Amino acid sequence: MSEIGLYEAMSTLRAVRRLKPDPVPDEVLERVVRAATWAPSGANVQPWRVVVVQDPKKRQRLQELYIGPWRQYAKGHAASIEQLEGEARARQERMIAAADHLAEHLHEAPAILVFCFEPRRMAITDAGLDRPSVVGGGSVYPAVQNALLACRAEGLGCTLTTLLCFAEDEVKALLGLPESWFTCAFVPVGYPRLRGHGPISRRPVEQMAFRDDWGTPFTADSNG
Ligand SMILES: Cc1cc2nc3c(=O)[nH]c(=O)nc-3n(C[C@H](O)[C@H](O)[C@H](O)COP(=O)(O)O)c2cc1C
Repeated sequence: MSEIGLYEAMSTLRAVRRLKPDPVPDEVLERVVRAATWAPSGANVQPWRVVVVQDPKKRQRLQELYIGPWRQYAKGHAASIEQLEGEARARQERMIAAADHLAEHLHEAPAILVFCFEPRRMAITDAGLDRPSVVGGGSVYPAVQNALLACRAEGLGCTLTTLLCFAEDEVKALLGLPESWFTCAFVPVGYPRLRGHGPISRRPVEQMAFRDDWGTPFTADSNG
């Protein structure tokens, strides 16, 4: 494996949804899940686990459960894309086409990482606030991101998906999750069919990071 720099990995980690069915060696997947275990979590409790789904019948069932929620989501998204023009619209249309492909071929991914969490182990310190609670996710999604970065380092395509949460009861039964555990991310992993990871499109840092006051760009050379 040739080493990739961390900044290069982060800046080229895009959703890779067209995957070859070729198997991924267990030792590679072991490195990916070990990287996930290095992630921080509130009080270092690590309230997550991951089920690496390789069984073809279970992958097939996950695909069947995924396609409905995806089609539902895509319908809504298609309506919002109609407001866009030019390159922004073309980019969204490419995303939908790739995501359609993933939805139709999910079972072909040689491994699907199903990340699970147990709320009662988590310090969800914003649970009582009068706004949506997000702190709990901070104890599980860093692990998912570590796995994505490790996939990047291994030359594996991957995408963070969440729509299978809509079929949580079926997924729990399929994978034998205990009652108190739930699902939070599903990462199909495999070698890319096409170019794989590469340039990403993100907002410029000037729009994202502020110095001392909201709206004052952090970066010195910004023109906003
Ligand atoms: C919380 C979260 C949920 C996502 N859920 C899905 C999903 O269910 N299906 C999917 O195809 N992509 C999903 N994505 C991938 C995003 O669509 C993707 O990261 C985003 O469009 C940026 O694309 P890029 O990384 O290729 O630039 C999800 C990403 C995040 C962070």
